[in-house]
Amino acid sequence: MAGAEVTDVIPAPVEAYGGPGEGFLLGPGTGLAASGEGAESTARWLRGTLGAATGFPLAPADPAAENAVRLTVDPRLTAELGAEGYRLDVTPSGADLRGGGPAGLFWGAQTLRQLLGPDAFRRAPLPGRTWRLPPVRISDTPRFGWRGMLLDVARHFMPKEGVLRYLDLLAAHKLNVLHLHLTDDQGWRIEIKRHPRLTEVGSWRTRTKFGHRSSPLWEAKPHGGHYTQDDIREIVSYAAERHITVVPEIDLPGHSQAAIAAYPELGNTDAVDTAAVTVRDDWGISPYVLAPTEAVLAFYEGVLEEVLALFPSPFVHLGGDECPPDQWRKSATARARAAELGLLDVDGLRAWFAGHFGAWLAARGRRMLGWDEILDGPLPPGAVVSSWRGHRGGRIAARAGHDVVMCPEQHVYLDHRQAPGEDEPVPIGYVRTLADVYRFEPVPDGLTAEEARHALGAQANVWTEVTEDAGRVDYQVFPRLAAFAEVAWSPLPAPAERDLADFERRMGAHYRRLDALGVAYRPPGGPHPWQRRPGVPGRPFAGPPAEPEPTAPVPSNARPDT
Ligand code: ACM
Repeated sequence: MAGAEVTDVIPAPVEAYGGPGEGFLLGPGTGLAASGEGAESTARWLRGTLGAATGFPLAPADPAAENAVRLTVDPRLTAELGAEGYRLDVTPSGADLRGGGPAGLFWGAQTLRQLLGPDAFRRAPLPGRTWRLPPVRISDTPRFGWRGMLLDVARHFMPKEGVLRYLDLLAAHKLNVLHLHLTDDQGWRIEIKRHPRLTEVGSWRTRTKFGHRSSPLWEAKPHGGHYTQDDIREIVSYAAERHITVVPEIDLPGHSQAAIAAYPELGNTDAVDTAAVTVRDDWGISPYVLAPTEAVLAFYEGVLEEVLALFPSPFVHLGGDECPPDQWRKSATARARAAELGLLDVDGLRAWFAGHFGAWLAARGRRMLGWDEILDGPLPPGAVVSSWRGHRGGRIAARAGHDVVMCPEQHVYLDHRQAPGEDEPVPIGYVRTLADVYRFEPVPDGLTAEEARHALGAQANVWTEVTEDAGRVDYQVFPRLAAFAEVAWSPLPAPAERDLADFERRMGAHYRRLDALGVAYRPPGGPHPWQRRPGVPGRPFAGPPAEPEPTAPVPSNARPDT
């Protein structure tokens, strides 16, 4: 099998030059050398993946050996290409891969795998293959330090194996953040030792709405599952080997119905009968929100102590989105709390929660992330905004000197349908095609260069109300995640000038990689019959996606929910 062309790589490298000649032919005698601190984990990864695909042992070799893949973490490269940058030189004597840091070396290994062709993505060798790296010099480094994907494991649980698989898929696209949305109205997915009912009660529901919440259909079987603390440790460590940070999200004070079902005292007990609350089986925004009491703060501090012990991430997401104030309005306790805090009304309690836990995290050396609703109040020290209701939250935050992660729903919510027409499974939201995602520009316009530096990067969000299993998740995520990865990594020109034809040509090679990986992507011509969900109602939005007017206030609870 011939190797891939250097120009097929996704995300596109910053610089790639092909050379003359045949390049380097790997064989059973090819060695694998690793030098420099942090090189060994990439050597382990290459030996595992390429060793499996080729059947070659890739035995440890001397750094100067001929017929070898030679890996080096080279601090001299850091100044030029950054810690996530790498340089790859392929000559007949072997492949020299140097990283500006351990992460750069790993991203370079992803490029090397792509250059070997799609069968390098299989887990066992096919007969009669040859493995050739084309003669190249590639110099590469990412545009953004935050290249993320959110996976909502609360609405539909993704068992641990699926998460590990997604970490491999993120790595293959040089994405380096997995934001795990661990708690929501429909399920609590992480074991908390001091509050066992969060998973005993909160991690499963008796039935599930099938389709958009206007659908009359139900899946009449229990749905549930959670990660034990050891599962989380495994996920975090598997991610770290791949230079991916797992950012946990514990969503509060809204999106808390599953927690309230487990511990009714967390809810507004003087306003509603929380003892009757069950884990939500339908979609949409739940009215059950946390009570603003000292006991609730203490409960969640306990939760977060366990979360911090499990996740080394410098960032911890605390939600803050879509928190209807109705129960607080009805609750004398909440009203008294708001008055005592000098708030104009109970709506301000949301910012008070964010302020409390943001400061609590900062005191422990972590930074709070929150959905852009947290801009309604003063931001706690070091807080980062996830700009989801458009670019506007990102623009406001960056101008005020706060860091932002750009994930506007109009552009990179991958639960939204990816084509018009009847065949899209459970179509919700705007039409966001592969080309649309390729033309996504993360940095809000109108910012100075200094302000724009607050855009840490971009994130694609995968909400799972209408994706009940890994195959449905694959369908929504792919191929669009490949376009997203290029937006987040490569130095692309302004959206209108991006070379879509060249990207689509490279996708020809990329589909074959996804095939080898077993990804159930949406084929370019539309879904396979078994990928459709005939008769299951979605909720498509008409017209091109609209961002809120720049002069309008940021609307609260604006997500046209599923
Ligand atoms: C969100 O989509 N509610 C962050």
